[in-house]
Amino acid sequence: MKPKVLVTREVFDETLEFLARACEVESNQRDIPLSPGQLAQRLADKQGVVCSLTDRIDENLLHDCPQLKVASNIAVGYNNIDLAACTARGVMATNTPGVLDDSTADLAFTLMLATARRLTEAEAYIRAGQWQGWHLKQLLGVDVHHATLGIIGMGRIGQVIAKRALGFEMRVIYHNRARLASDIERRLKATYVSKDELLAQADFVVLQVPYAPQTHHLIGGAELKKMKPSAILINSTRGGVVDDAALIRALKNGTIRAAGLDVFEDEPKFNPGFLELKNVVLVPHIGSSTEATRRAMAMTAAKNAVAALTGGTPPNLLNPEAKSKA
Ligand code: DGY
Repeated sequence: MKPKVLVTREVFDETLEFLARACEVESNQRDIPLSPGQLAQRLADKQGVVCSLTDRIDENLLHDCPQLKVASNIAVGYNNIDLAACTARGVMATNTPGVLDDSTADLAFTLMLATARRLTEAEAYIRAGQWQGWHLKQLLGVDVHHATLGIIGMGRIGQVIAKRALGFEMRVIYHNRARLASDIERRLKATYVSKDELLAQADFVVLQVPYAPQTHHLIGGAELKKMKPSAILINSTRGGVVDDAALIRALKNGTIRAAGLDVFEDEPKFNPGFLELKNVVLVPHIGSSTEATRRAMAMTAAKNAVAALTGGTPPNLLNPEAKSKA
């Protein structure tokens, strides 16, 4: 008998075709978000779940789904999954690292450029019919080229952002849990500094740390005050890493110049205070959203699930200890 898998949100046809070769597949192709109760109900007889970052895979759910062997997230971030609970119950958890690094780095750069050059404000102005003609001081922005870029979180995606910065001739400083090997620092022309030095020196502060209790409100009122009044903050990693209410205050009172945000606390219900501000560029968690990348993420998740359900080791297994219990 084939193992049973639930795909919690709409995926691509090729993802379903791949899964169906090895599994009996039930898919929510109508893409109606499942409540925790509906998710538990539909997973009760399944061995696998291909889930998204909007699904909570926690102890309550695992308790109700004793047959579950694998939770395969279609995302690199996995703060929606309680890894310890999965491990305790012998449920393998997987994510999709690597395939989205370039697209996510591109979006971080898009936000840097858009905030620095006031792109959404300029577009709103022209669409509103306010443009009367060229003038010297119109919509003055700041330069990205030759500016100082401070990256907090220098994992794979942070390093790809630093690589992009070389083309803009930026000075790159970074802060990370562990300092990079010196050959990587040399290749990226990136200098390791303390978090406080980074906040004090950077023209652009880009956050690329995962969300975890230790990174909750990593940037709050105190950190925003350490930034230059001319600085721009980019959050394209996870909501909750920034204290959004503190950021709104800082943007209102000129503590920093601007912000570019792809992610929010409590998304999709984000703080409405952002909508009143011109100096913030807002996009709805689209960091990895190119067709090629989202296809690659879904297929990576499908491959992880099939490997786990056919006795193999998923390529992106987050909790190897769970496999021995499975
Ligand atoms: C991830 O993979 O964690 C991204 O946020 C999804 O777009």
